[in-house]
Amino acid sequence: MLSYTTGKLGKGWVYHGVPNEEEYARPAGNRRAHRATLREKLKASSTMQKCESTETFHTSSRLKLELLTVAHAVELFPLLTDSRIYEYIAVQPPVSVEALAERYRNLESRLSPDGSQRWLNWVIRRTSNHQCVGYLQATIYPDNTANFAFVLGLAFWGLGLAREASLLALHSLFAEHGVTQVFATTDRKNVRSSTLLNRLGFVKIQPASYPHGRVLPSDYIFQLKRNV
Ligand SMILES: CC(C)(COP(=O)(O)OP(=O)(O)OC[C@H]1O[C@@H](n2cnc3c(N)ncnc32)[C@H](O)[C@@H]1OP(=O)(O)O)[C@@H](O)C(=O)NCCC(=O)NCCS
Repeated sequence: MLSYTTGKLGKGWVYHGVPNEEEYARPAGNRRAHRATLREKLKASSTMQKCESTETFHTSSRLKLELLTVAHAVELFPLLTDSRIYEYIAVQPPVSVEALAERYRNLESRLSPDGSQRWLNWVIRRTSNHQCVGYLQATIYPDNTANFAFVLGLAFWGLGLAREASLLALHSLFAEHGVTQVFATTDRKNVRSSTLLNRLGFVKIQPASYPHGRVLPSDYIFQLKRNV
C-alpha cells in the first residue's frame, strides 16, 4: 500500500548535489574532478534557485519526487546518457552536463513560452540512499487535461519504481493541479511503457480522441480519467 504525503520545503538555499558515487560506473579520477568542478559551478551559478515555501515534494515508502531544477543536471546526466533509454522516445541523450543544465534552466519557469501550458518535471529520488533514478514529465493544458511521460535510468527498470513514482505524480495532478484527464503516448513496440500505463489504470483510446495534436501511426494513445 502506497502512503502519500506532501511536504512543504522551508525557505533557504537548496542544492540536490552529490550523487552516490558507488551507484554509478566509477569514473576515472579526472572525470570525477571535472564533475566536482561542475557541481561547484552550478552551485555558484546565478540560476541557483531559492526555494520558496510554495515548493512541494511528494513521498512514498521508497521514493521522493522533487520539482526539477538546474542543480539536478549533475546527478541525472550519468543516467541519461545510455542510448538504450531512447529506443522508443523522440528525445536525444544530453551531450554534456552543461547542455542538460541549460535545458533544465529553461524548464524552471514551469510554463510554456506563451504561458498557456504548465510544464511540471519531477526528479525521482530513492529515500534509502538519496539517489536519483529518473524523472517524470507532465504538461497541463488550459482545459485541465495533461500529457504524462516517464524515464528511468536503465539500472532501475523492473523494480516497480516507475509505477510508484507515477502514482505520486498522478495523485498530484488530479488532487493539486485540478487535472481531469491524463493522456500518454507511447510507441506500440514499447511494451514496458504500455504495461506500466495499464497497471496505472490507463486505457487505450482511439488516436482520433487525442486532444493534443497529431498521433504517429507507430504510437498508442492511453487515457486516465480522474475518479469523481
Ligand atoms: C517505461 C519505463 C519507465 C518502465 O519502467 P519499469 O521499471 O518497467 O516500470 P515499473 O516501475 O512499473 O516496473 C515494473 C516491473 O517491476 C516489477 N516489480 C518489482 N517490484 C515491484 C513493486 N514493488 N511494484 C510493482 N512492480 C514491481 C514488476 O514485476 C514489473 O516487472 P514486469 O514488467 O517484468 O512484470 C522504463 O522502461 C523506461 O524508462 N523506459 C525508457 C523511457 C521510455 O520509453 N519512456 C516511455 C515514454 S511514455
